Amino acid sequence: MKWTSAFLTAGLLVMGTAACNNQEKTASETPAAGISKQAWGQADGQTVDLYSLTNSKGTIVKITNYGGIVTSFITKDKNDAASSIVVGFDSIAQYLQSPPYFGAIIGRYGNRIGGGKFSIGDQTYSLATNDGANHLHGGIKGFDKVIWTADPVSDTVASLSLHYLSKDGEEGYPGNLDVTVKYTLTDEDELRIEYDATTDKPSPVNLTNHSYFNLTGDVQATILDHQLQIDANGYTPVDAGLIPTGEIKAVAGTPFDFTTANSIGSRIDSVEGGYDHNWVLNSKGSSLQKVATLSDSVSGRYLEVFTTEPGLQFYSGNFLDGKFINHTGSAVKLRSALCLETQHFPDSPNKKEFPSTILEPGQKYHSVTVYKVGVKK
Ligand code: BGC
Repeated sequence: MKWTSAFLTAGLLVMGTAACNNQEKTASETPAAGISKQAWGQADGQTVDLYSLTNSKGTIVKITNYGGIVTSFITKDKNDAASSIVVGFDSIAQYLQSPPYFGAIIGRYGNRIGGGKFSIGDQTYSLATNDGANHLHGGIKGFDKVIWTADPVSDTVASLSLHYLSKDGEEGYPGNLDVTVKYTLTDEDELRIEYDATTDKPSPVNLTNHSYFNLTGDVQATILDHQLQIDANGYTPVDAGLIPTGEIKAVAGTPFDFTTANSIGSRIDSVEGGYDHNWVLNSKGSSLQKVATLSDSVSGRYLEVFTTEPGLQFYSGNFLDGKFINHTGSAVKLRSALCLETQHFPDSPNKKEFPSTILEPGQKYHSVTVYKVGVKK
């Protein structure tokens, strides 16, 4: 369905009424549930917009169609104080200064492809290299820096569907890739992200979202005291350029063992540079399953990650350097925030032993990830 102001109004009315019936007492304090749109300036000579998705609990997710970026995810803490649990900015201008993928959709290939090269059959492809000799997060102008066509989806909860056609040869990738990413905010405080794609030539595809979380809502507090649990018995060790060696190593007895909840800071100093690795999930990407839980006792918030993907990149914000100022006015510094990026394994196009990331013409790429926020009072 195409965006119309009639839809917007009807959606707001219908969803607003439902919210009032459920929460009569707080209706005056809680913004109306639904979806709204505001003009948000220009990028690449085109107008971009900011969409606000609000659920009946008053949780708000803001998304711009520039890069499909989640700019804020505002939830209440144990004291009912609302703040954003993701790093972001209030203006498009800051996103145009290339922050390290804050909140963005990543594609065509999330994480690295070694040497920026891969082969399919006897054809070798050279990709844009933007991380030393390697290709990272789709290249110089990846999906995080393009303008997506936005359509609301008419439903009982607020959804935003984003569409982008990545042309044959873009950043060196073969084939026209037709991509749709649908964000939905449910009344259970889940941000559901559904990725769909088709291609007309075989191409690697590995889509993810690059939100940086700090559950305290305050990036002045580090994430070192957050507790993390990842349902993974293995991880993929990397070389000095952060390219997997191809091995899958057991986490048992290492600082990578998060099979039971551990604070991030407890063992981080024994991992050179901090955590920036792919965990091999026990779920193996077989179906949508809970794979990780992050929690913070200060705010009482916890975040559960569900995915259909076989891997999870836990990145502890190792390259954050204070250069960017969050919407709260604070600098985003080393360990201010962390990413939990659901994915296929890095450099899979060059690692025959890893699950394949090649999408063939006629096949449908479909991947689902859910970030669910809760609070312990
Ligand atoms: C990667 C890091 C990279 C960061 C960029 C993460 O997904 O794993 O190595 O530096 O993205 O912000």
